[in-house]
Amino acid sequence: MKRYFFKNLCLLFFITAQVIFCTAQTKSIDQKVDSVLKLMTLDEKIGQMNQYNGDWQATGPITKDGDKQTQIREGKIGSMLNVTGVDHTRTLQEIAMQSRLKIPLLFGQDVIHGYRTTFPLPLAEAASWDLQAIEKSARIAATEAAAAGVHWTFAPMVDIARDPRWGRVMEGAGEDTYLGSLIATARVKGFQGKGLGNTDAVMACAKHFAAYGAAVGGRDYNSVDMSLRQLYEVYLPPFKAAADAGAATFMNSFNDLNGIPATANKLLQRDILKGQWNFKGFVVSDWGSVGEMINHGYAKNNYEAAMLAANAGSDMDMESRSYIKNLNTLVKEGKVKTAVIDEAVKRILKKKFEMGLFSDPYKFCNEEREKQQWNNADNISFSREIAKKSIVLLKNEHQLLPLSKQTKNIAMIGPLVKAVRDNLGFWSYSWPDDTARIVTLWNGVQNKLNNTSNLLYAKGCNINDNNKDGFDEAIAVAKQADVVVLSVGEAPDMTGEAKSRSNLHLPGVQEDLIKAIMATGKPVVVLISAGRPLVFNWTADNVPAIVYTWWLGTQAGNAIADVLFGDYNPSGRLPISFPRTEGQVPVYYNHYNTGRPAKNDSDVNYVSAYTDLVNSPRFAFGYGLSFTKFDYSTIKLSKTKLTATDKLEASVIVTNAGNYDGEEVVQLYIRDMFGSVVRPVKELKGFQKIFLQKGASKEVKFIISTNDLKFYNNELKYDWEAGDFQIMIGSNAMQLQKAAVEWAK
Ligand code: GLC
Repeated sequence: MKRYFFKNLCLLFFITAQVIFCTAQTKSIDQKVDSVLKLMTLDEKIGQMNQYNGDWQATGPITKDGDKQTQIREGKIGSMLNVTGVDHTRTLQEIAMQSRLKIPLLFGQDVIHGYRTTFPLPLAEAASWDLQAIEKSARIAATEAAAAGVHWTFAPMVDIARDPRWGRVMEGAGEDTYLGSLIATARVKGFQGKGLGNTDAVMACAKHFAAYGAAVGGRDYNSVDMSLRQLYEVYLPPFKAAADAGAATFMNSFNDLNGIPATANKLLQRDILKGQWNFKGFVVSDWGSVGEMINHGYAKNNYEAAMLAANAGSDMDMESRSYIKNLNTLVKEGKVKTAVIDEAVKRILKKKFEMGLFSDPYKFCNEEREKQQWNNADNISFSREIAKKSIVLLKNEHQLLPLSKQTKNIAMIGPLVKAVRDNLGFWSYSWPDDTARIVTLWNGVQNKLNNTSNLLYAKGCNINDNNKDGFDEAIAVAKQADVVVLSVGEAPDMTGEAKSRSNLHLPGVQEDLIKAIMATGKPVVVLISAGRPLVFNWTADNVPAIVYTWWLGTQAGNAIADVLFGDYNPSGRLPISFPRTEGQVPVYYNHYNTGRPAKNDSDVNYVSAYTDLVNSPRFAFGYGLSFTKFDYSTIKLSKTKLTATDKLEASVIVTNAGNYDGEEVVQLYIRDMFGSVVRPVKELKGFQKIFLQKGASKEVKFIISTNDLKFYNNELKYDWEAGDFQIMIGSNAMQLQKAAVEWAK
């Protein structure tokens, strides 16, 4: 007994010591922040709230004014963006060390899906449904960027997007709040790794706060208007997940939300983020968004814009110059309290301390580390791994895929067969050796077949014009082949920021080229590269095999060849619904039932349907094929009547009934049949990506509690309500086994 008591006493002593030490440690950072703040003049404080773009590249409309190095030396700039490379960042940090208080600069950068090694677009990675892989991708991006002097990435973008006309759908995790929240967490953890202060960790930045993906008409920067209930239910959870994962910063969004620009939206930034969520990081505006409140008609001038944004909790002004030019006067005139400035500056300084920049401003300026990360073979090999997992097989009639490696003559046709940088997609970096490093589709197939087959090539057409001069050559090449691989899609700059499109069809004459090649009677595989769902109904109806290859990054060609020739069985599942046409947008799986739901796809008799189009999407959320076939048993439930404290076990037996080993994403959806507000016809509440050898079976079990039933009611109370529920498990949002349960309070 004595030994036990002594052991516990030691444990208690150890824990107490830890608490004292940690409190002392945390207290020391807070104390250090306070001690620096006390030394600062008002202008120096305002300088910390000012962020300028470097002069090397721009990601927004740039203002050429003044000598930034002088302004750094004078303490007028607290952060720079788009400055990368150990040499450039060291140069500017050395100048910051000449300022009176030697407060280090923060260097921010859009490391969205890779830095030196480029990974699949974020939307493509979301199609992998592989959270560990997604976290690792962000981890590698952070390591490479940090080695190049970057302290802070403006990622993850966690905007839920249900409208593929919006070009930035490529940058997030698609239409679903549950999946988007898990991916937000994975990306924040990936970027921040073992914590700020490690030389391979960068500060994450959850953006764009908030509801930027709900722009009216899918038109970038457009207005957003929605109920608070929908804001809380659909758009905020991924931001909350990012905050809970420890995201160091947030970035507000360009849009106005319910009449108030996000940049000056107190509800978002002070009440919810810094209040309810107790967020301790800082908020940076988006590029020029403070000054853009004049265009919004919300501020008469930059003076007012600065006042509105600062008072609403925007801590740092990216590129609008509103803060640096007006905050001093605003404080002197009592329009912005010193306490508001001090709170913003403390948040910023705290991150600089946590990053270790006060103790070593050159901590991230290590030439050796930069060299190590410049061509890291492991990083390149992983980019191929996650690229394979992101590919979605949409159609595979008569098992045309995988192709045999012994195929004699293969025609590779289309404008993207030999595309190089296109494979990196939007928000990627160009390097002088890109042509040597990026694996094109053509390279990938060559690497795979190492000259055992006769590869034929024709471009056929351009991506986005009406020129059909190349058709004859393409048809002739197709006629010589045993199989044709057609590579079509968008140009990479057709999706991304400021890239909203009203027409989602395959651009140019690409679908005509597909028709012409199909007319040869040859077996055809179509590969579609894009950053968003596209519309390609003729192809979807007539081509036997279709693979969605998004933009897959540095190793694109190898990853696609792995799938084409069966070295990897595709496991991607769509993170966003594909519309049949633009007129169907928005189409998403977790819609409400309405009072007149269509009974089936052809029902148009006084129901909520289009008379000229079926209601279902072209391809459903969660959809994706495999070379094999997965069969599902009916759902087994541990109970069908439950009370508040019960947990429900719902399981299915999944069998690999085909001829290939493969992975399946087993998805769990729940429907709350009746509620105090109408409830979606289904909501994703769980998934498990499993591997099954051919012929093997596995029981996949989900544990469901009342936490999974909660939603925001009309009073914005987050809770669950007793009643009838449908439990659904299956391979996508439309192919599900169903079972009913009753849950009482
Ligand atoms: C851009 C984007 C934002 C990005 C920032 C800096 O306008 O909206 O996502 O992080 O400016 O490049």
